[in-house]
Amino acid sequence: MKILGIETSCDETSVAALEAGGGREAPRFRVLAATTHSQIDAHRAYGGVYPTLAKREHGKNLVPVLLETLTNAGLMGSPTSKIPEVGLPKMYRLPTKELQNIFEREPELLAQFTEIIPSIEKPALDAIAVTVGPGLQPALWVGVNFARALSLVWDIPLIGSNHLEGHLISPLLTPLGKESRVSASFPAVGLIVSGGHTELVHMEGWGNYMVLGRTRDDAAGEAFDKVARILGLPYPGGSALATLAAFAAANTENFPLMLPRPMIHSGDYDFSFSGLKTAVLYATRERPELLSREPLRAALAHEFEEAVVDVLIAKTKKALEHTAARSLIVGGGVAANTKLRAALSMLAEESGIPLLLPLSEYTGDNAAMIAAAGYLHANEPSAADLEAHGTLSL
Ligand code: KG4
Ligand code: ZN
Repeated sequence: MKILGIETSCDETSVAALEAGGGREAPRFRVLAATTHSQIDAHRAYGGVYPTLAKREHGKNLVPVLLETLTNAGLMGSPTSKIPEVGLPKMYRLPTKELQNIFEREPELLAQFTEIIPSIEKPALDAIAVTVGPGLQPALWVGVNFARALSLVWDIPLIGSNHLEGHLISPLLTPLGKESRVSASFPAVGLIVSGGHTELVHMEGWGNYMVLGRTRDDAAGEAFDKVARILGLPYPGGSALATLAAFAAANTENFPLMLPRPMIHSGDYDFSFSGLKTAVLYATRERPELLSREPLRAALAHEFEEAVVDVLIAKTKKALEHTAARSLIVGGGVAANTKLRAALSMLAEESGIPLLLPLSEYTGDNAAMIAAAGYLHANEPSAADLEAHGTLSL
């Protein structure tokens, strides 16, 4: 079946089209097209994601991002047809009253929707999956309302996707156009490491999860971003911090600072990264040369990265042992981190189990993973009055 995915939970406006098969037991995917518009530049001035701005940006970008995806996926009537322009003749009439209700709080999106959507043919899609949570409530609503409107106008079933389940299934996504060959063996341990979440999950199968532990304060990605800011790197600093850390001298044994590995021996599967950020802050206050001398700054970034990776690996190892896991599944923005990827590979190898990691293009927020997560629930279509739930858990 062909599924359209829509993701607006944070600062990426993303739409993807996916072909899915194999059922919940052995899901396989082929990404037909995926378009993501990042709002990072708009949010940088705020040093983080500003929810009202995110909502407005999603409203502006959803229609063009949808059109690009449908065009690239060959779902826009004839394969040669181009992105439609404003002013094209309308092919069908819209249910104006219902749309006004749906887009009550997104008048600009309503105007764009009304102008463009009726001028394109109904695409051959079997379902529309949209992120309902977790995420920023105002941002989520824009995507949910957009999906509701498309579902109404095109008469295509709607599925509410869980963003975290999307990150978990992201390792099954292959390069554009290629069918996935990866499959997971269960029970599995899932590790979600993103800007908003750090969770260890016991997975009995797709759609069957038990959260073992999660962060009690900052998420791993959030800690990367906050420490990056202390180090003078622009938001979001996770990948810039990793680049800086790679400049640290190969031998950092002489580095005078050892950061804590919070909760590494806590005996549970919870995490806490806010103390680590504070430790970095205090260290730089006591010793300003940690910021002003480049080799020390790189060494500090390196030590921070090591501390995060050490904690993530120790807890994941324990979870693998405890659950007798047959595979390790990892997703989320921080899964782009080279050190973490290498450490996870080593852990999986030592444990004698396969490691399922997303390709770098699917580590961050993207709609392909939302369409894939939607496929797992294709038999449970949502009601037309689907809602956003900012604090939704797995
Ligand atoms: O999954 P994601 O795109 O958004 C959320 O759902 O939160 O994750 C974004 C997070 C940011 O905190 C970003 O700094 C972090 O992933 N990140 C990284 C790297 N690339 C992105 N953290 C560490 N190393 C990286 N290479
Ligand atoms: Zn995410």
